[in-house]
Amino acid sequence: MSEGVLTEAVRGALAAVLDPEIRKPITELDMVGGVAVDADGRASVGIKLTIVGCPAADAIERDVRAAVESVPGVTDVAVDVSVMTPAERRALTEKLRAGRPARGAQFGPDSLTRVYAVTSGKGGVGKSTVTANLAVALAERGLRVGIVDADVHGFSIPGILGLTDENGVAPRPTRVDDMILPPVAYGVKVVSIGMFVDSASAAVAWRGPMLHRTIQQFLTDVFFGDLDVLLLDLPPGTGDVAISVGQLLPTAEVLVVTTPQPAAADVAERSGVVARQTGQRVIGVIENMAGLVQPDGTVLELFGSGGGAEVARRLSAGQDEAVPLLASVPLSIPLRSGGDVGAPIVVTDPGDPAAVAIRRVAEHLATRSRGLAGRKLGLSVR
Ligand SMILES: Nc1ncnc2c1ncn2[C@@H]1O[C@H](COP(=O)(O)OP(=O)(O)OP(=O)(O)O)[C@@H](O)[C@H]1O
Ligand SMILES: [Mg+2]
Repeated sequence: MSEGVLTEAVRGALAAVLDPEIRKPITELDMVGGVAVDADGRASVGIKLTIVGCPAADAIERDVRAAVESVPGVTDVAVDVSVMTPAERRALTEKLRAGRPARGAQFGPDSLTRVYAVTSGKGGVGKSTVTANLAVALAERGLRVGIVDADVHGFSIPGILGLTDENGVAPRPTRVDDMILPPVAYGVKVVSIGMFVDSASAAVAWRGPMLHRTIQQFLTDVFFGDLDVLLLDLPPGTGDVAISVGQLLPTAEVLVVTTPQPAAADVAERSGVVARQTGQRVIGVIENMAGLVQPDGTVLELFGSGGGAEVARRLSAGQDEAVPLLASVPLSIPLRSGGDVGAPIVVTDPGDPAAVAIRRVAEHLATRSRGLAGRKLGLSVR
């Protein structure tokens, strides 16, 4: 094979190597410098990383080596790793923004990304657990998924998705100039205030305007790329963050999580009503912590029953389209322990009834149409 043909084959192989953070081929990111193959089949490849000490450097080098070695005719690979110049980096961030101004928010009115805000009236009903597992289930279906952990005071998504170290601290995301690259867990791009504080227990005592700015910054500076679905894990209640989300993400639709407890229905309904007041549509209710089937076949209804259906019924009364109860997720020890150790059960224990119920919600979200005339469907399978 001629050297020219081999060189092209090597370039072709490099097009299959993705930057693990940006999740695009390194060839598209202008990260490949010189490529040469000599008469003996020895290939040399120059790779330009975005920043010094890029945490993905080892993975990229390994993938490049493997890709080039797999080209028939290549006998040896030398990878020369360097770092982009500031000008190259600027060109890259501009390219990634694809014309969007540096301070422009992603997911504006023209965005094709479907944005779902997961809310509840009460705390501790399992919003974060459900959001994280739902995101992973959607990613497993081939969708491009991101999560904004908008629970600034009680961030928990990095832990549930295994992004934290032994001290419970999440990694600080890589920055390329003013662009923040969200870490990826189980195929989901994640950003959380937990990635910008120094300890897992750090209390973030911010008031409304600061919260608003933080979420705004997540939506402008974090490079999510083209997402099919963005999930927002909201703090409990109907506070400032819910209102900010309404302003910053006008296309967001709302999923209300509630327990089966009849008394919880009032509070859950209120969170749905507030969402509507900020212009968002409630598109479904997820009941969580429903009856647990015990080994003897009896069902333990620790939190009662019927709350989810009741919230769905009440919220339906306020809008043209009925609000469906999308799933009733049972109490599940694996769901809880998976969250504790950062291993979402939709992956680790897919047969668990809670995982099955969450996957059902994912299927509903992945297949529903936007229902607005003239609007393209925001979901596409890669
Ligand atoms: N179906 C379930 N079965 C058993 N445990 C669950 C279930 N859903 C959630 N949990 C557990 O309940 C606790 C609270 O869940 P989670 O943190 O997801 O709730 P939350 O609504 O996000 O809370 P907060 O309001 O504090 O943000 C966690 O320990 C979680 O593992
Ligand atoms: Mg939470």
